[in-house]
Amino acid sequence: MRINEPVTQNELEYDQHARIVSTTTSKGVITYVNKDFVEISGFTEEEALGQARNIVRHPDMPQAAFQSLWDAMADQKPWMDIIKNRCKNGDHYWVDAFVMANADETDGEAHLQSVRFKPSRDQISRATHAYKLINEGKQPYHL
Ligand SMILES: Cc1cc2nc3c(=O)[nH]c(=O)nc-3n(C[C@H](O)[C@H](O)[C@H](O)COP(=O)(O)O)c2cc1C
Repeated sequence: MRINEPVTQNELEYDQHARIVSTTTSKGVITYVNKDFVEISGFTEEEALGQARNIVRHPDMPQAAFQSLWDAMADQKPWMDIIKNRCKNGDHYWVDAFVMANADETDGEAHLQSVRFKPSRDQISRATHAYKLINEGKQPYHL
């Protein structure tokens, strides 16, 4: 697991109309980020493109959440969940992420795309609680 630092635990609030989009290869190398991704994460397009998929990984996110994402991609199924992401400066922003694979018509390779929306305060507090329990080795009751 990659540990990105620093972490401030300051939450970045952002516009509810933002749509944070990124695309990766099947191995998770970033091939596209949109303007909202750049503005909210704090990484420039140059810093993000070609990087490992876990550039915005926050250390508070349990590994199990991403295992289910990659299992869904392997089965060619869409995946959704609430994710705590880390900004370049160590702050964080919560997203309601939708990830799915598309086969590219030219090379037949799977391309993975994520569109992320701003979750509600209620979704954020439930996810915070569930991830804390998972990180403590306990069973989250809402998942
Ligand atoms: C299209 C796509 C978008 C992703 N978006 C995020 C994201 O916003 N935040 C995140 O932490 N992981 C995201 N992931 C999952 C990461 O690739 C990675 O599995 C995760 O950060 C865990 O990193 P680790 O393997 O270092 O533990 C995404 C994966 C794909 C395929």
